[in-house]
Amino acid sequence: MKYMQLGLTDLIVSRICFGCWQLSPRFWGEVPIEPWRRAVTRAAELGVNFIDTAGAYGDGFAETCLGDCLAELGLRDRFYLATKFYWNFQGADRYPETTYEFIMSECENSLRRLKTDRIDLYQIHAWDPLTRPEEVAAALGRLKKEGKIRWAGVSNMNVEQMGAYRDLFDVASLQPHYNLLAREVEDRELPYCLQHRIGVIPYSPLYRGLLTGKYARDHVFKDSRGEYDLYTGGAFPRMLEALDETAKIAEGLGLSMAQLAIRWVLTNPAVTSAIVGIKTPEHIESIVPAAEGTLPIPVWHRAGNILGKAKRDALALLDQE
Ligand SMILES: NC(=O)c1ccc[n+]([C@@H]2O[C@H](COP(=O)([O-])OP(=O)(O)OC[C@H]3O[C@@H](n4cnc5c(N)ncnc54)[C@H](OP(=O)(O)O)[C@@H]3O)[C@@H](O)[C@H]2O)c1
Repeated sequence: MKYMQLGLTDLIVSRICFGCWQLSPRFWGEVPIEPWRRAVTRAAELGVNFIDTAGAYGDGFAETCLGDCLAELGLRDRFYLATKFYWNFQGADRYPETTYEFIMSECENSLRRLKTDRIDLYQIHAWDPLTRPEEVAAALGRLKKEGKIRWAGVSNMNVEQMGAYRDLFDVASLQPHYNLLAREVEDRELPYCLQHRIGVIPYSPLYRGLLTGKYARDHVFKDSRGEYDLYTGGAFPRMLEALDETAKIAEGLGLSMAQLAIRWVLTNPAVTSAIVGIKTPEHIESIVPAAEGTLPIPVWHRAGNILGKAKRDALALLDQE
């Protein structure tokens, strides 16, 4: 396993981060817990030392499962734990909230669910237009002073939003959507993070699985992916066709398509660690070798061009349907 310093923090994290969103039944349906727990153990054995979750994943369920698993297996100190706050899910409707009171109480809830006395990276899940950054900063400053969080990071934010927080506290990291099919942050956010030494931990590096190219053309997704643009209608076979072509490039490098997709993300010098959504020990085992290197520059561009064109074609097909 390869490791990298997360921004300017003292966290030296593995280049693969174990993502826990898969334990959110709202999006992923029922994911069997036993294989997931074995995956956590396997991740530790393989040198993965970084786990990402959120209070909102399954409305506390993912944090609770993770906390139970780490406590029962005695693995808490083997991992840096990153979690997030933003969604208030206590009532019938969930809504964004980053008020001082909410952050203070939600952090206590996360600590309790995770069965730990500290969160290594506490992230604002997304920009909240209703709360002043000064209020968020005051809460995070207090939590840091009390030793309940070690570092604070952000997710799903643009340069201006990061800047508003950076004026008030150290922003350790950005968690953006970034992969071969979602490159919006490449022009502004990633250079900004490089310039200011903010760690970058992209999510959905496999575009929620599509970039593995592993699905049959008639595959029926039983989870919410069935409603996702590139997973539907004529778009899906068009994407699989492009993925077959890209998989041949991967094969030439001795990589699976999934490994190429992860390595593609890790090749960007702004990127610290790719957060991969894991359900089984096989998922983590087969993805870990991707962290061992980067892609040759021509391959990085070729894969990006093939899949970029396929995405444009696929979205045009959907428009016609
Ligand atoms: N900050 C945010 O707003 C945000 C948003 C989304 C995600 N995240 C974080 O990022 C993590 C990853 O993102 P993601 O779950 O959206 O997508 P992802 O990592 O792009 O895709 C995960 C899916 O890829 C497949 N997969 C994973 N490893 C594999 C392997 N080695 N071989 C074959 N298939 C493999 C599995 O699909 P199958 O289920 O079909 O097997 C899995 O469910 C999440 O768990 C979460 O921690 C954050």
